[in-house]
Amino acid sequence: MAEVVLQSISKSFSGHQALDDVSMTVADGSFVVLLGPTGAGKTTTLRIISGLEEPESGDVRIGGRSMKGLSPAERNVAMVFQQYSLYPHLTVRENLAFPLRSPLLKTPAAEIERKVAAVAETLRISHKLDNKATALSGGEMQRVSIGRALVRNPQIYLMDEPLSSLDAKLRADLRVELKSIQANSGATLLYVTHDQVEAMTMATHVGVLDHGRLVQFGPPREVYEQPVSLYAAARLGQPRINIMPADLFPSMPARAVHIGLRPEHIRLGQGEEGLVNRVERLGDQTRLHLSFRGQSIVTVVEPHTALRSGDLVKIEPIAPLYFDADGARLI
Ligand SMILES: Nc1ncnc2c1ncn2[C@@H]1O[C@H](COP(=O)(O)OP(=O)(O)OP(=O)(O)O)[C@@H](O)[C@H]1O
Ligand SMILES: [Mg+2]
Repeated sequence: MAEVVLQSISKSFSGHQALDDVSMTVADGSFVVLLGPTGAGKTTTLRIISGLEEPESGDVRIGGRSMKGLSPAERNVAMVFQQYSLYPHLTVRENLAFPLRSPLLKTPAAEIERKVAAVAETLRISHKLDNKATALSGGEMQRVSIGRALVRNPQIYLMDEPLSSLDAKLRADLRVELKSIQANSGATLLYVTHDQVEAMTMATHVGVLDHGRLVQFGPPREVYEQPVSLYAAARLGQPRINIMPADLFPSMPARAVHIGLRPEHIRLGQGEEGLVNRVERLGDQTRLHLSFRGQSIVTVVEPHTALRSGDLVKIEPIAPLYFDADGARLI
């Protein structure tokens, strides 16, 4: 596959800046996850790489080559859309084979059949190969649209929330499957998700978009542990990072206005300042919802904790993150 480089990409739609000077390298064989709330510019980034949208300024380079003026077909990228788009009048088999029938590829019929069967197997859709695309559940349609990307051998896979309409079990299975396809075949992926687990477990790198600007890019662990801002800190982690006024705790650094505490970075001790409001037992972990000096805090404790609602505790920060008045991280 190939390295994809975005060089100072900007794009606006009728005066609204969707992407603002985005530069990013998706290294060959990497799995990059784009994070950001709705409207941040994630889909626009994928559409510009695929050639469905032209940037106003900047360049997309794939495998060292500028994509200026090249059509989507000539770019050889495979995109899985946020809203799956299958050919309704075709069967699942024909939908999966469709990308391979492109005149540019000249794939032999036996090869098409072999690839369609293999991908259908991977996505557990073999028993539906002869169904019309309209005669499928939402999750099945989503799998067929992932399959249409996987049958190909593109320079990069672009996937826009591809697992979002699947049930929890299938989603977990496909997460592992996609990650192993990428790890084994050295595929390059640029992937959009709102799912914390997908981002943390699949990504080699995450890119954080804030109103069209790329504010942080790095390995998920680094973004989780060393976020550049409050905004970046809030993009990863479930339950979310607890953000509180810094002056609630003693000996804060100068200029610190906010303190950020990950749920696992709170030690509970003997004391009376924190009140346990609710104990949420999830099986593998237990979450405590606490109130502390007028703030709500969520923390993760061992599953069989003896704490109960109404108990009083002391709250001690471990590895706190500090932020200034603008939300920038203080180091
Ligand atoms: N074709 C278009 N015409 C006008 N505005 C657009 C168009 N496409 C995107 N936008 C705007 O550009 C911004 C970025 O949109 P984009 O679809 O990239 O967001 P996103 O990060 O994918 O969000 P979501 O999580 O909701 O899918 C939004 O403000 C959106 O309204
Ligand atoms: Mg989108």
